[in-house]
Amino acid sequence: MIEARGIRKSFGGQSVLRDVSLTLARGEVVAIIGPSGSGKSTFLRCLNHLETIDSGHIAIEGEVLATTDAQGRCSYVSDAQVRHIGRKMGMVFQSFNLFPHLTVLGNIIEAPMVVKGMKREAIVPRAEELLRKVGLIDKRDSYPGRLSGGQKQRVAIARALAMEPDILLFDEPTSALDPELTGEVLRTMRQLAQEHMTMLVVTHEMGFAREVAHRVAFMDQGELIESGPAAEFFAQPRHARTRAFLQSML
Ligand SMILES: Nc1ncnc2c1ncn2[C@@H]1O[C@H](COP(=O)(O)OP(=O)(O)OP(=O)(O)O)[C@@H](O)[C@H]1O
Ligand SMILES: [Mg+2]
Repeated sequence: MIEARGIRKSFGGQSVLRDVSLTLARGEVVAIIGPSGSGKSTFLRCLNHLETIDSGHIAIEGEVLATTDAQGRCSYVSDAQVRHIGRKMGMVFQSFNLFPHLTVLGNIIEAPMVVKGMKREAIVPRAEELLRKVGLIDKRDSYPGRLSGGQKQRVAIARALAMEPDILLFDEPTSALDPELTGEVLRTMRQLAQEHMTMLVVTHEMGFAREVAHRVAFMDQGELIESGPAAEFFAQPRHARTRAFLQSML
């Protein structure tokens, strides 16, 4: 579903991604963990074309987004193809990014109407179904300002799902939340995993990574240090840097 090979990215001379490679199979849940500033968000943003890569190769569901030739020149596919590929992925951010001037329902139906040109009558029943799924149908007509952080994040997940993505990318979806609100968001994500949604999740929640992710990848200073099946990764991390990080998270 996702194939990223040899991704490099610098910001103003600072190398932020150094040869990062990761693949995700259909229905797979992969957690990315690592210290602050290690490049986790930048990597997700490159997959989603919120950032461009300097070199490497990205293909989503077998369709090439960007590739690098033998001379090291990186090129992207056409804008139309980039948009087409982008629609295969939904993203959920730490800070929810809901539209404050739209109701919960309005937030969910906006992109399907504007981006996909769907009729309101067609998307509203689906939006309501998604709100039931995340346990928020009673908040249908509320504004985001009236919701708790956990509720906002569940609306953000419903909003991403309304575009019917094949892959969901999460960037620390619970780190802006109080601990008592984290559980409700993780439950929703766990449910999606059980429904075989393909998910790439940057998280500090080691419990989630251990219990829900099939594979865990550790990033440090722009490098993907190691990745492996969750149980193995936590029981026997191979690299000293991974061990030190896991120690610090206890
Ligand atoms: N738009 C940008 N311009 C310049 N530097 C950037 C930009 N975005 C990220 N960086 C730098 O790239 C590095 C990696 O940042 P990134 O946000 O990917 O880290 P992260 O692993 O997601 O960290 P955190 O856990 O704190 O979210 C950092 O040193 C950051 O300062
Ligand atoms: Mg980040």
